[in-house]
Amino acid sequence: MINSIVKTVRTVTLAGVSIAVMTAAATATERPTDLAPLGDPPIPADNPMSAEKTELGKLLFFDPRLSGNGAMPCSACHLPETGWDFPDKISLGYPGTTHWRNSPTIMNTAYYGNLFWTGVSKSLEAEARTAARGGVAGNGEDDMMETRLAFVPEYRERFKDVFGTEYPRIRDAYMAIAAFERTIIQKDTPFDNYMRGDDDALSAEQKRGMELFTGKAECSTCHSGALVSNQKYYNLGVPAYDGWETDEIAQISFRFELYAKGSTEENYRKWKDDPGLYFVTKEKADLGKFRVPSLRYTKYTAPYMHNGMLETLEDVVEFYNQGGGTNEFSKNKSKLLKPLNLNEKEKADLVAFVESFSGERFVMEVPDIPEYEPLPVETN
Ligand code: HEC
Ligand code: HEC
Repeated sequence: MINSIVKTVRTVTLAGVSIAVMTAAATATERPTDLAPLGDPPIPADNPMSAEKTELGKLLFFDPRLSGNGAMPCSACHLPETGWDFPDKISLGYPGTTHWRNSPTIMNTAYYGNLFWTGVSKSLEAEARTAARGGVAGNGEDDMMETRLAFVPEYRERFKDVFGTEYPRIRDAYMAIAAFERTIIQKDTPFDNYMRGDDDALSAEQKRGMELFTGKAECSTCHSGALVSNQKYYNLGVPAYDGWETDEIAQISFRFELYAKGSTEENYRKWKDDPGLYFVTKEKADLGKFRVPSLRYTKYTAPYMHNGMLETLEDVVEFYNQGGGTNEFSKNKSKLLKPLNLNEKEKADLVAFVESFSGERFVMEVPDIPEYEPLPVETN
């Protein structure tokens, strides 16, 4: 699936002046057709971008007051310095819990149509609300968080500037956070530069890896387009999170999620693995399926998969080389996976190419969070 863009320079003489003309000829620079460089993210009509809004969203992303106990900001589980993710298999959870899934990066989430590992959220705005309120994440209560914002003079001013309201509204806080997330994007990776015409942006090893990715290893069947994800759902047979066996706090979180998401009593007692997309559709055919994640920025987001069970990109490639794995629901395992017979050199080439979807590490200092002040007592 490699498209040859063939061009050479031919000199023609026109009215006595020599000019260079591009024409089709034999020297080939190859670009895959099922992958693409990243453009600008879509911006929803009801949440236009402005510098004031994204600046406010940045403060709120790092502000611990947007959580139940005033100590669990978004940035607690999406740490800029690791990969805007959380570097354990399973994410940190709200105090007294662990989360039950791996924390994905927020880098480039602006481009997804479906957010979360099971695509349950359709916009960054909706996702921010779910995250701030979720029992094993922010565990906040909208009215309480809104009241807290009202007691911060700087927020009163900033929300008024951006949204025109006398007092901050919690739904506008989620709008601002979503706008901020739309600035955490990376469009100039070695891969993008190569696709835009810089032949030297990829090493020889990466170019071989690209051919495997779109050819023999068939990665681009699912990891395609500019986001390097077709945004569909598959069961790959990723082994169950090993902490379910040994960590009682993890077991409690897992059972809480099974209950909260509506499993039957029988399944609640029986299941030892994450049913994935099943919780969204309640279709047996969706047991153990997860959304194809983007491979952008994955150089910095180990460990991998919805439960972090694969530690390195080398482990991921070896996993696919063996045709995927086995789990409680692998009756549903995708028929697209089969042993790939890659040798050591090919595996290394593939890893090198996957790394070309990541540019430099993008870090950000924690901003100064504005202070509370008591509201003046009104007398009449
Ligand atoms: C306690 C840890 C924790 C906190 C706090 C938290 N998150 Fe997350 N976040 C996660 C985990 C874990 C997931 C994946 C959950 C899932 O898919 O079921 C996630 C998923 C996401 C996603 C979806 C990424 C994707 O690839 O689809 C976005 C966006 C996101 N969080 C943003 C936020 C924002 C904004 C906040 C603050 C309002 C926040 N998170 C607070 C742990 C956390
Ligand atoms: C059948 C579709 C499919 C094919 C083919 C496929 N993938 Fe995936 N990939 C997925 C899905 C689905 C996930 C998430 C699975 C999960 O968490 O259970 C994933 C996850 C990953 C991850 C982890 C990303 C993260 O953020 O945790 C990497 C890396 C990856 N794939 C690389 C590859 C490579 C390299 C190939 C080719 C050898 C490949 N994939 C082939 C569907 C596919």
